[in-house]
Amino acid sequence: METNDAMHRVLIVEDDRDYATRLSRNLSASGFTVTATEDAETALGKLAEERFDIVLTDIRLPGLSGLDLLDRVAEQVNAGEIEAPPVVVLTSINSVDTAVEAMRKGAADYLTKEATRDEIVLRLRNILDRAELASENKMLRRTLGRYEEFEEIVGASAWIKTLKDQIRQIAASDVAVLIQGPTGVGKELVARALHKASNRARGAFVEVNCAALPDENMFLSELFGHERGAFTGALARKRGQFELADGGTLFLDEIGELGPQAQARLLRAVETLQFNRLGSERPIRVNCRLLFATNKVLGEEVKAGRFREDLYYRINIYPIEVPPLRARPEDVPPLARFFGARFADKHHLAPAEFAPEALDTLRANPWPGNVRELRNVIERLAIRFAGRMVDEAALREVGLAGSAGPAGGAAVLPEGGIDLEEVERSLVVQALERTGWNQRQASALLGISVDRMNARVKKFNLTHPSWRVHR
Ligand SMILES: Nc1ncnc2c1ncn2[C@@H]1O[C@H](COP(=O)(O)OP(=O)(O)OP(=O)(O)O)[C@@H](O)[C@H]1O
Ligand SMILES: [Mg+2]
Repeated sequence: METNDAMHRVLIVEDDRDYATRLSRNLSASGFTVTATEDAETALGKLAEERFDIVLTDIRLPGLSGLDLLDRVAEQVNAGEIEAPPVVVLTSINSVDTAVEAMRKGAADYLTKEATRDEIVLRLRNILDRAELASENKMLRRTLGRYEEFEEIVGASAWIKTLKDQIRQIAASDVAVLIQGPTGVGKELVARALHKASNRARGAFVEVNCAALPDENMFLSELFGHERGAFTGALARKRGQFELADGGTLFLDEIGELGPQAQARLLRAVETLQFNRLGSERPIRVNCRLLFATNKVLGEEVKAGRFREDLYYRINIYPIEVPPLRARPEDVPPLARFFGARFADKHHLAPAEFAPEALDTLRANPWPGNVRELRNVIERLAIRFAGRMVDEAALREVGLAGSAGPAGGAAVLPEGGIDLEEVERSLVVQALERTGWNQRQASALLGISVDRMNARVKKFNLTHPSWRVHR
């Protein structure tokens, strides 16, 4: 794997100044960015503040020893306070026992102080490659796990073509992008595509849903992190999502839902890419690209006085407006085929085929829940009509086509009967999809109370990523 040492930050913990200076000089000359400290306490402070890719520590130190340092790092990692950089211990040739103990405590490797510059650099590179691979795998798993989607932009409309051109054009730049459009049109998909097409693709894609945490302080601590004791319940220092996005992309979803205090704090962070953890005066600087999305028309929110104008101008530098599906019906057939094939695959079924007139009907549907709604309809069809033809009758069965919808409660029982539970579940899900998984609004669509809505959500075991409060 290719390694760019210039980006690798090394923390040296060594009280022997002569050796530390020599080591620092050698590593800097080999392209590493070096920070040197003389004791473990100072090193722990640095580790809490900045991200290091590797720690090189002496064993015998004034105060805490190198082995103590290993223990402390392990504790902090377990408490979720810091991410673990690999630690390499420096030993003298006749203290191999200590080196073994260090390895048992979680050290990544040990080096003798007699090692040559080339030896040291080679060992560090190997460790960094391994660490990078591991964290990349972790990141991939996290990204994939959190977004169980297909991550491919499908469509035949002129708009989709323009969108792909735009993504290519701005991929390499770090310009902030504001993605606007109604629910379910693919805003998050666009954000992920921008990240993947950029130079930061190997960095983290960190998503923060601004609507998920209604309490502004909770949101601020999620975004910026906090120090121990910053507020009641802040038992340990915690790094915020902004820090975790260092080197990657930070995607602030549902930005239109932010309260005034959070907007003010965000403005400064967006302007300077600098912020401080709650309860700390020390500014932290990050290098990340910012993407924003909202299903509100932010300009209107500004006019109504709900969104700060200065923040609006800061984030509305490169706007991408995603139109509703009904404004680009040419995308419906390719999307239907795409989802049909993917869901057949996912559920290990033979794919269903779409009759031309069924595709016409799908094209003509208004799709208030946009691509997400289409996707869910196709998933149901892919399961129910596996290996068969989806025609008009099939569409009627899932409540599309004709006037078979139970408008105004005047539903007609089909001859073959129905599965009432399934109909209920499907209506509840449709109402949730149509309202962006807002239970209050969905309950209004169904003419039931929020409590009854809630009971159904539990009964059918429904959930949505936006309902999950981060940790
Ligand atoms: N052009 C497209 N090609 C393939 N899949 C798409 C496309 N547009 C949207 N999707 C899929 O539709 C679903 C909804 O998209 P996404 O979550 O990106 O919408 P959104 O605009 O962020 O919605 P919300 O406003 O509700 O957050 C996802 O499964 C996404 O992968
Ligand atoms: Mg979204």
